[in-house]
Amino acid sequence: MRKDYSTSMANDNLFKSVKIKNIEVPGNIFLAPLAGFTDRAFRRICIEKGASFTYTEMISSEAVVRGNEKTFNLAERAPNEDIYGIQIFSGNAASAAGSLEKLMHFKPDLIDLNCGCPVPKIVKSGAGSALMQTPEKIREIVKALTETTDIPITVKIRSGWTADTLNYLKAAEMALEGGASLISIHPRTRSQFYSGKSDWSCIKTLKEEFDVPVMGSGDLYTGDDARRMIEETGCDSVMFARGAIGNPFVFEDAKAALTGDSQYKGPGEEEKVHTAFRQLGFAIEYIGEEKAVKEIRKHLCAYTKGITGGSAFRNKIVHGNSFEEYKQMFDEFLSELK
Ligand SMILES: Cc1cc2nc3c(=O)[nH]c(=O)nc-3n(C[C@H](O)[C@H](O)[C@H](O)COP(=O)(O)O)c2cc1C
Repeated sequence: MRKDYSTSMANDNLFKSVKIKNIEVPGNIFLAPLAGFTDRAFRRICIEKGASFTYTEMISSEAVVRGNEKTFNLAERAPNEDIYGIQIFSGNAASAAGSLEKLMHFKPDLIDLNCGCPVPKIVKSGAGSALMQTPEKIREIVKALTETTDIPITVKIRSGWTADTLNYLKAAEMALEGGASLISIHPRTRSQFYSGKSDWSCIKTLKEEFDVPVMGSGDLYTGDDARRMIEETGCDSVMFARGAIGNPFVFEDAKAALTGDSQYKGPGEEEKVHTAFRQLGFAIEYIGEEKAVKEIRKHLCAYTKGITGGSAFRNKIVHGNSFEEYKQMFDEFLSELK
């Protein structure tokens, strides 16, 4: 269905470049880091569909220091990723800084420090959202990073640990004292994990308090959401997360919404299926057939949600164990769509 973004946006182009220290990102529609999802294949597709900037999944600084091969695969740049960031998680300044030497081999344009991951295993190691409880440590780690490299260091925080201990302003202050060049905020608390609503008023307050680029995350599913977040909070850029899974077209939608382009129609069912199939091809190229055919299933389920015959297709793909088997399933699915 065609969306009409022309009236509200006629005089107000909200699609802008973002300056992060010494780099200029040519747009303000970012793909969030998503563990288990934002691999090279998916990032490549998101860039094709208009993502201005992409991050790797979070990468353990400890694993990098130990020289873990699997971790290096996560850090690789996609061929169309002219500009990208590597996100690390770390609870230790020495290991964070130590990981940079090896990560610089991939020539990332920035390094992002994860201060939001709520997963118990990560939190127990003092990393992820545990850092919201120890904001001084954010300063220590960011300082160690900025003293080790000239590329921008950015920081992704939550609003706090619990609703009673909202301390995102303190966390941001610490990050900036350490030399951070941009703050992203996912305004849910650690206690919320990913449930409930994100509180966009925190994004607005953060933007008002500090003179630094601020990126908003949380509950972005459509181009209209992106426009609303920028209008309501004044943030410099937005970051699509769950809203991009199975729907990389959301970047085109967001660009249309931010520029006021009334011509954008959104993808048809065939385009969605073709895009999913291309992602499978890229995944096989990057991680090999055996792993790719398993990893791709969650993406295919998301791509085919709401598509005619999608449910039958999803029932079949759990049995797909090779490219050939998938190709046949895709061919059948597409022929039924026509
Ligand atoms: C499956 C999943 C994996 C995620 N992995 C990461 C991650 O590796 N690093 C990070 O900073 N945030 C991660 N996040 C948080 C997202 O980047 C984002 O901030 C959050 O999902 C809020 O946005 P949304 O409500 O639009 O999904 C993850 C979220 C989900 C659902």
